[in-house]
Amino acid sequence: MNIMVIGGGGREHTLAWKLAQSPKCTKLYAVPGNPGMAEIATCISGVDITDNAALVAAAKQHDIDLVVVGPEVPLTNGVVDAMTEAGIKAFGPSKEAAKLEGSKAFSKGIMRKYRIPTARYEVFADPATAIQFIEEQGAPIVIKADGLAAGKGVVVAMTVDEAVRAINEIMEDKAFGQAGARVVIEEFMDGEEASLLAFTDGKTVRPMISSQDHKRVYDGDKGPNTGGMGTYAPAPVMTPEMVERATKEILEPVIAAMAKEGHPYKGCLYAGLMITDEGPKVVEFNCRFGDPETQVVLPLLQGDLVDIMLACVDGTLDQADIPWSDGAAVCVVLASGGYPKKYQKGYEITGLDAAKAAGCQVFHAGTAEKDGKVVTNGGRVLNVVAQAPTIHEAVDKAYEGIAKISFTDSFYRKDIAHRALEREKK
Ligand code: AMP
Ligand code: GLY
Repeated sequence: MNIMVIGGGGREHTLAWKLAQSPKCTKLYAVPGNPGMAEIATCISGVDITDNAALVAAAKQHDIDLVVVGPEVPLTNGVVDAMTEAGIKAFGPSKEAAKLEGSKAFSKGIMRKYRIPTARYEVFADPATAIQFIEEQGAPIVIKADGLAAGKGVVVAMTVDEAVRAINEIMEDKAFGQAGARVVIEEFMDGEEASLLAFTDGKTVRPMISSQDHKRVYDGDKGPNTGGMGTYAPAPVMTPEMVERATKEILEPVIAAMAKEGHPYKGCLYAGLMITDEGPKVVEFNCRFGDPETQVVLPLLQGDLVDIMLACVDGTLDQADIPWSDGAAVCVVLASGGYPKKYQKGYEITGLDAAKAAGCQVFHAGTAEKDGKVVTNGGRVLNVVAQAPTIHEAVDKAYEGIAKISFTDSFYRKDIAHRALEREKK
């Protein structure tokens, strides 16, 4: 089969790497891809990934049998509907189903209607009423822009003042544009967070191995939120009993709900969970694989990703074989100095082969090729991933690998997987 991956970050590099291992994969393409993906796929440049017609034309031109969509924007734009109409199989939810991520008000509405455990909330389109509600509720309280804001539209306010400031920034100063025309105001949930991704064909749901992301930029979970500075899998907080509860109380009900609403959800569903004293509750749903969760989840998948994705598209997931490794995986993100604020691009990267020789996978997240050299081209530049029988061995191996790579002003968190390591010690 000819397969086309849409996207060009670390998640998409990992997807491409896993798809390429399937005997069913004859030719692999990536739009736009990146220099790391270019080692295993043909990268197609000059196609705008927000232009469905251009993506369909590229898929037709290269005789694509299966399209795998990485990022949320093409999904919420309906690229899967466009491919399906053109007779091309595509892994991912339809435009309507992708609203589970695309609109927090929609997703909270589904959870309320079908009694899926999540924080209590209200939606506001008017700043004055929002502020009045915050004053009634008190702090801590959580403010979220309704639409897509690249993971940055959430403020966990520890004081009423901070919450009011967030309303002003999102609704009056329009810090996230139209995405902030409405806000969701939520009850603060206390607990440990975990990510649970699942394959689904719209009827059957099969959870993947759990993982945990580190969203803050600095060690000790300090500093501003980022797209994710590192991950590990499995997450010890997600015991088999907790995975079972999350599957029965969250994943299966939401997939049944979407089918009942007339918008069956197919593809990968990402549940961001808070493990509270009352059990797992939903922080957010994403309509795609997590980044950088994918970088630790897929290496532990022992099954054939092409077969599993086809089963999701064809509605035969109940028959699919999805074996997982017993080991652990850790991903450390190597970032550009200044990220998540302003940073420079274009620095030469060295030591990639040495990191691989140390037994790591190096997935490219924000790189480019210039004069035959690999240079930095984003905030999160590389994802160094190690696999081992235990988390602490995987941590040691990932840090050994990342130490071999260098570029000007690079930095990374030194404490990835600290919660799991503390539990391992106990
Ligand atoms: P989100 O984009 O919805 O995943 O939110 C970003 C981050 O904000 C999450 O990963 C949590 O750490 C935090 N957060 C979001 N909602 C809540 C909540 N209701 N209670 C506590 N923390 C939250
Ligand atoms: N790692 C968080 C996300 O993919 O949304």
